[in-house]
Amino acid sequence: MGVGRGYGKVILFNEHFVVYGVPSIVSAIDKATIARVERAAGAGWTLDDRRPATPGYKEEKLEQQRDSIDRVLRAAGVDVSKVSIRITLEGDLVAASGIGASAASCVAIARALSEEFNLHLTEEQINQIAYEGEKAYHGNPSGVDNTAATYGGLLWFVRGKPIERISIRRPVEIVMGNTGLVANTEAAVAGVRERRQRDPARYERIFREAEELAYIARKALLDYDLRAVGRLMDRNHELLQAIEVSCKELDFLVELARENGAYGAKMTGGGLGGNMVALTPGKDLQDKVARAIKREGFEALMTRIG
Ligand code: MEV
Repeated sequence: MGVGRGYGKVILFNEHFVVYGVPSIVSAIDKATIARVERAAGAGWTLDDRRPATPGYKEEKLEQQRDSIDRVLRAAGVDVSKVSIRITLEGDLVAASGIGASAASCVAIARALSEEFNLHLTEEQINQIAYEGEKAYHGNPSGVDNTAATYGGLLWFVRGKPIERISIRRPVEIVMGNTGLVANTEAAVAGVRERRQRDPARYERIFREAEELAYIARKALLDYDLRAVGRLMDRNHELLQAIEVSCKELDFLVELARENGAYGAKMTGGGLGGNMVALTPGKDLQDKVARAIKREGFEALMTRIG
């Protein structure tokens, strides 16, 4: 049996913009999907998906997930016409939108295949195979999610460039609030593309600001100026609202987190549902914001970046 792990992620700056080469900042979180791969008699593959999930997520993503597994197997060179495999997915990462669930599972499966079939895949190859798997979910992914799921840590990610690690003084507490809405990342990305083509001058201005913001945010993280990081997250959320990838549930949770003392808050990931993230340094503030989110009937995940 082969076993593999892939981390969940939180994009702190510039989801969507990253698709067009704008720098982004992403952190893996301490929740992961674990994949087990076992050989069985016959041919083909079967899946037992035991991950905890937002209601409706698995059903909604089933077709994309099947396509994704086919792609991962192909990219890893595992021919299931000659061998049958049983894939089991589990772990403590909730299968939900905005938290890197699809990328985490692609990475976990690639690692498990590598172990079971003695493929000796390097980290770079795992990442590349997961990227192929991600295409089933995103169409034209930037690669930020699979990169975070593979390498972990806090990363400066620019499409097509080598990653840079951002090392900060101490990990920082965050809260991720789940709207409970299953979102379609591919549709969200396509919507941005369409609107950008319709209004290039306006989008150019927004994209330029997103790019400048990423550099300032990297410096603020390195300086451990968390107030500044929070303010920049707030501004990043406004830019994401401007390109129309937020929604009223995300805006509500973002506002709620700020009212309860978060240093900053924004949607995270593809948007149009899924998760938001609030910067909440210290256990007390983290508890307070998470409680406020739960009181409103939403799920809240307490974790850390860096
Ligand atoms: C999704 O987690 C992040 C997006 O920027 C898409 C991508 O980068 O491929 C929305």
